[in-house]
Amino acid sequence: MKFLILSGPTREYIDPVRFISNDSSGKMGKALAQAIIKRKHNVIFITGQAAILPNPSRSIKIVKVISADDMFAALKKNFKTADIIISAAAVSDFKPQTFSKNKIKKDKQILTLKLIKNPDIIAYCGKNKKKQVIAGFALETQNLIKNAQKKLKEKNLDLIIANSKEALGASKNSAHIINSDGKIISIQNSNKNKIADKIINETIKIFRNNKTR
Ligand code: C5P
Repeated sequence: MKFLILSGPTREYIDPVRFISNDSSGKMGKALAQAIIKRKHNVIFITGQAAILPNPSRSIKIVKVISADDMFAALKKNFKTADIIISAAAVSDFKPQTFSKNKIKKDKQILTLKLIKNPDIIAYCGKNKKKQVIAGFALETQNLIKNAQKKLKEKNLDLIIANSKEALGASKNSAHIINSDGKIISIQNSNKNKIADKIINETIKIFRNNKTR
């Protein structure tokens, strides 16, 4: 089976030395990749500038990207051949409307930065899927499960993993794995490898089920 994982933060450059980004470590993406390799499947691992990367292996191809647009381009290149796509990436929702070729000077009291929406990569996958199983994450600070279920529906995903903001950068986490039939698997205070194992098992189950339908 061919997996495609999106991982890590994206960077949206304002000028040559400054960017907008977030705290995503890449830990969850790495845990997912290791769970896939352990099961002897192949994985294309598209990652932003993350502190943590999976160990090199013959079953993994690591593609490094910077911005959400780069990640989207890399995803589109590999979309058709993937069977299961999981996005654990913290994609920046917005990017600066213009990029200043030169370093912005501090000669004003107020600097206004205009931001425009980035493409929603996993929503593109949900919209264009054929045989693919598509899974995303939802990090919510309120109404965790309800908001995650809403996202699952809106983005036409097969699976969504709901977690709270404590998950960012942590090695232990509580998560709810929610599928489109309404099934919820809740995992309390587990390490990310254990959560990744459960996620990979669920995606494989859905893929096999779809095939026999
Ligand atoms: O909408 P929200 O950002 O909460 O959705 C989270 C899910 O969507 C994650 O799986 C994330 O990787 C993915 N996402 C994406 N492209 C975006 C924003 C989020 O693929 N621009």
